[in-house]
Amino acid sequence: MVAPAVDLLRNPLGAVRGLFSIAAMAASPAPAATLELSGGDWGVKGVFDKFLYEEGAIAQVPHIGDLARDSIPSGSLVRFRGMIQDMFDVEYYVGAYKDCNTWQTNKYTDSPVPQDTEQQIWDRRLLYCVPIPGENQWMKNRWHSNAVQPDATSQSLKRKREDVPATVESMDCDSPTKEQNSCLVKIYDGNDADLKLNDIAEFVGIVWKESELVSSSASDSSALAESLMEDDTSLQLPSSTVPRLHCITMRKLSAYSIPSQPGALADICSVRESLLCKLQSVLGEDRLAAEYLLLHLLSKVYSRVEPLAVGKFSLNFSGCQAGADGSASLVASAVGHAISVLLPCSQVVPLSLQDLNSCLIAPRKDYATNRFTYRLVTGGLQLASGTHLTLDETALNTGRLNETGVKNLQSLKSVMESQKVDYDFQYYQMEMPTDLPVLVVSCGKSRILPADALVPLRCSAEAARIHAEASDLSKWRIYLSSAREADHVIEPSMQKILEEDLVAARQKDRTVGSETFHRWLTMARLLSLSYGERSLTRERWEMTKELEMRCAARLRETTA
Ligand SMILES: *[C@@H]1O[C@H](CO)[C@@H](O)[C@H](O)[C@H]1NC(C)=O
Ligand SMILES: *[C@@H]1O[C@H](CO)[C@@H](O)[C@H](O)[C@H]1NC(C)=O
Repeated sequence: MVAPAVDLLRNPLGAVRGLFSIAAMAASPAPAATLELSGGDWGVKGVFDKFLYEEGAIAQVPHIGDLARDSIPSGSLVRFRGMIQDMFDVEYYVGAYKDCNTWQTNKYTDSPVPQDTEQQIWDRRLLYCVPIPGENQWMKNRWHSNAVQPDATSQSLKRKREDVPATVESMDCDSPTKEQNSCLVKIYDGNDADLKLNDIAEFVGIVWKESELVSSSASDSSALAESLMEDDTSLQLPSSTVPRLHCITMRKLSAYSIPSQPGALADICSVRESLLCKLQSVLGEDRLAAEYLLLHLLSKVYSRVEPLAVGKFSLNFSGCQAGADGSASLVASAVGHAISVLLPCSQVVPLSLQDLNSCLIAPRKDYATNRFTYRLVTGGLQLASGTHLTLDETALNTGRLNETGVKNLQSLKSVMESQKVDYDFQYYQMEMPTDLPVLVVSCGKSRILPADALVPLRCSAEAARIHAEASDLSKWRIYLSSAREADHVIEPSMQKILEEDLVAARQKDRTVGSETFHRWLTMARLLSLSYGERSLTRERWEMTKELEMRCAARLRETTA
């Protein structure tokens, strides 16, 4: 099919309608022509995919969030990168109508349909999307910096590159994601089949704004359409703040991969060493703790064998000083800050008694706020997989947890133990698998949450904020992201050695159980990956045991 010669950026609907009439002409005069036309997309996605991804025009498509809303006219091509926060049922709409004996399409719009016409009702799926929670500024810059913004004439749109922000945002569960940056995405032709709640994706499509919407619902005359649209979810959202994006094409993304990675890093070992030194200074010159932190930053759930989330490696740094007057502890803020400049998505969660008691961190649906829309009123833990959490347990003062506090602690426990978040749908609970690496910074009084590894911190200097050259930061980010995503195997010959070692370790120390062994295997895998290796060697296995021996010695000193 030949693409109509129109400007796909400024007049995407022209292309859609052109392709529709070609297809309609080919299909007529069969009476059921439009029914056939409702199933396919007449080559629309193909034309746009080629234009955007093969010819590279994606860089010229403005981001909805970047431009003042008013400067994007309805009907232009835009993109939105975000997390799917809620999924609604299908919405019915007039997909095609007969105007003077010719079928016209109304797909990818919310525009009004002429009255008293023959009409076809089609359907589309609605997704409620929000900016990625916890996404760090450098990651946003990275995505947006290469976008040429067509209307960006003013200085105000030019972003200043700032790789190391001065402050870290911490989780704020009282105010769910701000409405003005969210977006209602309308998906066609079953293109949502691959999408789940909390997935991250970039949607490209046609934007539609409120003034047009009002006229659309007011002038729609078809009784059939009206009855079908009665429970139209989109109309329940404040349209002045939530634009609609009629999705033509999309790509799924992940919270821990960074866009446009250049080729492999030249010398992995030296990148590893420079990052380790930096982490060491962040942790008050504690080298052992830095080794554990590096492994932790590379961890992810790579398989599930119920009830185990295999690969997770949560870490607890104990022996940290609490911050003065209820502020964040020095270690928590230094580490939280370092992680925010190294990983794409992260959040610091202060675990004070007051926070735990007063705001719910598990996502829940509030059926009361809206007649028809059952939007998830999010809690702090509705995050995309791969988002890192630093829990500042030093903020936990003594006192009583009330019902909310107990629930919150239970939610955090479930994330740390099995990487599952409980969704509270009021009438039922649902468990959603997730992958949120958790780092706990604690003083060390009572053991309330179960971390995979406990490292008593031994600072010989003050925990320091990360300072680094942009080129180093960039290397470390790529290093972490690619090591984290790499595959890893344990060859049978190595497996035999591991088994023998386990038996020997058990004979020496009766407390070495399957939990310890799991931790060793996870650490060995992460250590390998940290050196850019794809299968476990004897050397890395010995290093793992050595790290664990040093850590165990510290723990004995601490409890002695
Ligand atoms: C728990 O305590 C907080 C403040 O201390 C209060 O706001 C909240 O309503 C309490 N929740 C329950 C379920 O008792
Ligand atoms: C971390 O370890 C300390 C010391 O054992 C303990 O008090 C704290 O509860 C632990 N926290 C977690 C989340 O494991």
